[in-house]
Amino acid sequence: MQRNYFWYQIYYSPMYLTKEEERIYEGEEGWTKKKAMEILVAIGDINHASELIPIKSAHVSGVSYKTIGDAFEFVNRLEGRVKVESTLNPIGMDIEKWSKMGISKEFANKQKEVLAAYKKLGISAECTCIPYLIGHAPKKGEHLAWAESSAVLYVNSVLSAKTNMEGAPSALATALIGKTPFYGLHQLENRKPRIRVCVKCDLADADFSALGFLIGNQVGDKIPLIEFSSPASLPSKEELKHLSAAIGATGSVGMYHIKGLTPEAGVKADVMKSKRSEEKIEIERKDVEEFYIENNEPDVIAMGCPHCSALELTRIYELLRAESKGRKVKTDFFIFTARAIAQSVQTQQIVKKIENYGVKVICDTCFVVSPAFENYDCVLTNSGKMLRYVPLLCGGAEVRLCKTEECVRKAF
Ligand code: F3S
Repeated sequence: MQRNYFWYQIYYSPMYLTKEEERIYEGEEGWTKKKAMEILVAIGDINHASELIPIKSAHVSGVSYKTIGDAFEFVNRLEGRVKVESTLNPIGMDIEKWSKMGISKEFANKQKEVLAAYKKLGISAECTCIPYLIGHAPKKGEHLAWAESSAVLYVNSVLSAKTNMEGAPSALATALIGKTPFYGLHQLENRKPRIRVCVKCDLADADFSALGFLIGNQVGDKIPLIEFSSPASLPSKEELKHLSAAIGATGSVGMYHIKGLTPEAGVKADVMKSKRSEEKIEIERKDVEEFYIENNEPDVIAMGCPHCSALELTRIYELLRAESKGRKVKTDFFIFTARAIAQSVQTQQIVKKIENYGVKVICDTCFVVSPAFENYDCVLTNSGKMLRYVPLLCGGAEVRLCKTEECVRKAF
């Protein structure tokens, strides 16, 4: 077997496999598991992982037919079931309203095939990027294999679970084996902050999207310790969601710490203090304000990237009610959320009321991963992640950042 070649061992420091893992690698438990194990071994070897460790859950991305295309045929060939609780990221359409979204029958049929392929493997098809808000929140210290950068940053930083930034193939392979290579953010020593970010102003709402965008751009691969000027400036749960998404969109770190807020920040800050030369970035009000420059008039408003929480939906409804004065919105306006949230007992009435203003609440998908939103010129959003990805993935549209309240005001 190639893994035992002398030179291979010298150069690639192969990861240790148990007897059972060796058997799977050799194909004794079938083609699917063999392929999955080959992926894990390749990743483990490249990253000098010592061994495979068990995980509690996996979150698989790359499931929109817009992004995966016919590569999903590979998933179709896989057999068996995932070994751990596994969830799916948004697909390319609302599974119930796709025709109203203008999605073609051809795309819809392909998307349904993709979904069926993942469901057959036992993956829960809740199709959201916020599984941690709909009953799949990992516990502190649990090892996971999650793809979707916004969720990875949130669960590592806010919930103190442990996952590397998985890609679609590695998250799926890990789900099928129930184990992941032990390296990177699974190891405590790699979770320490290496750069301080001092925020010199009070922030709220989309300011945290701007902050995340700036931090991701500036810290490179160094995990930041973010320090706010006062405890009153600390972000809410929803603001942490936006901060996580924006850092994930522009940076290459899988976690951050916030002094006085995130579970690992106290311990890790002590580690930093002992360092002689400390790298530091300062963020001031003017740095954030630069994101709100007004240029072209938006022809669409989109919120829910990452998917809206119940609290965000309620807030948007209250803003619509205050602003409408009996009118419906005059600009196309879409809100993206998880089906489990939109159809929950607490939220379904709110969703209906939002839709009464002419706003469309869409589940299972989002502005970026669906082909339904590629014909707009200028998008208004409160999301830092959309700021990064709309120009790249939505037909070259321009995108403008705005506070939630301002987005709603512009709709009338
Ligand atoms: Fe989620 Fe789509 Fe944004 S997957 S994080 S809503 S780009």
